[in-house]
Amino acid sequence: MQTLTDTRVDALDSEARRILRLNDRGGYTVPTDGLYPYQWNWDSAFAALGFAAFDADRAWTELETLMAGQWQNGMLPHIQFHQEDAGYFPGPGVWGTEGAPGKGAGRVASSGITQPPVAASFALRTYAKDGAAGQDRLRALFPRLMKLHRWFMDSRAESGAIAIVHPWESGRDNAPDWDSAMAAFEPEGVEPYTRRDTGHVDPRMRPTKADYDRYIWLVQFGRDTDWDDAAFAERSPFRVADPTMTFTLMRASRDLVGIARILDEPTEEIEGWIARLEAGAETLWNEKTGCYDSRNLRTGELSGCVSNASFLGWWGGLRQGQPTETLHRVLADARYAVPSFDPADPRFDSLRYWRGPVWGVMNMMVSTGLHEAGLTDEAERIRRDTVALIDQNGFAEYFDPQDGTPAGGGTFTWTAAIWLGWASPTAQER
Ligand code: DGY
Repeated sequence: MQTLTDTRVDALDSEARRILRLNDRGGYTVPTDGLYPYQWNWDSAFAALGFAAFDADRAWTELETLMAGQWQNGMLPHIQFHQEDAGYFPGPGVWGTEGAPGKGAGRVASSGITQPPVAASFALRTYAKDGAAGQDRLRALFPRLMKLHRWFMDSRAESGAIAIVHPWESGRDNAPDWDSAMAAFEPEGVEPYTRRDTGHVDPRMRPTKADYDRYIWLVQFGRDTDWDDAAFAERSPFRVADPTMTFTLMRASRDLVGIARILDEPTEEIEGWIARLEAGAETLWNEKTGCYDSRNLRTGELSGCVSNASFLGWWGGLRQGQPTETLHRVLADARYAVPSFDPADPRFDSLRYWRGPVWGVMNMMVSTGLHEAGLTDEAERIRRDTVALIDQNGFAEYFDPQDGTPAGGGTFTWTAAIWLGWASPTAQER
């Protein structure tokens, strides 16, 4: 890769800042105009990472509006519907969370499922940029973050690893990880619906209809059971332990220990969660593939999937027995790292969302973890590839790992955010 000139770096930094401002809806940021017109949970936390590079006050506000949408039971919804938008399906009426006992009264309209919990990680990052000035804002967020992590450990951690109740929770919506669990039930009784996503982007870059029918079936299951955690645990056909959730929560819990120390709060409870998650992570190890995998908790079977989430253990803070060999193989097989799915696997699909494309946010977490663990060559390879993808193809939602084709939504918040917070040479200097 050619080294970028200072002028080019300035132009990319300024374009990334422009995108964050463009997607700012006043206190919260949408992932991208059109395709995703609301506040998404982990997209928003990543937005804070981006804002923290140039406007710490705005980064705190992002985290505050995000955490204000927390349910009474501690769950943080994956979408907050701040205003109506006919361009998105499924909207608040389909989710039907109003009146759900777990939600509690007077909260913003929302979905009924969660997403990878990265908020504590980027709250600590924001504090690092803002120093003592941010202490009060960090203190105000702390009880909400504790409640969120406690909710995960109480309602999703029966195997030690963190279970998802809907593929959308993992953030890796249509990853092959969920194929067998999704095929195990028929989406009978799905009410007629019209997809909106394929009106915004090429259907080849999006999940299939078979997936979508089941996504909506699972939403109806949640609505029919009043979004009750116990009903999901006991009766839903879909319950899969996910490395994305497990490792982001592990990392966020370590960061929460850091926050607790800054605030002079006790850390024992959080340390107990970390120990349970570490033991749970071992249940995701797949001897055959030599990396972390997902596990269908209804059948006990591992999915046999090598994905970008397979390499999040370093980000989670693990050092022993990590999948270095498998990582080397996948890096050798991809022109641009890290493909979201193993290019050597027949299920790989270079443009279809989480079945192949490269995602900047995953690259940021994988590379940062590798860097912290001293695997600097691998970490730098991933960062350089991310720089090249963005330099050549813009701030797209995701990219083809074989030729860099930009895919999904354009002018994407989290791609801009990881540029400013990590990939840009100026972020490295900072
Ligand atoms: C979508 O609509 O594709 C989202 O990923 C669901 O959260």
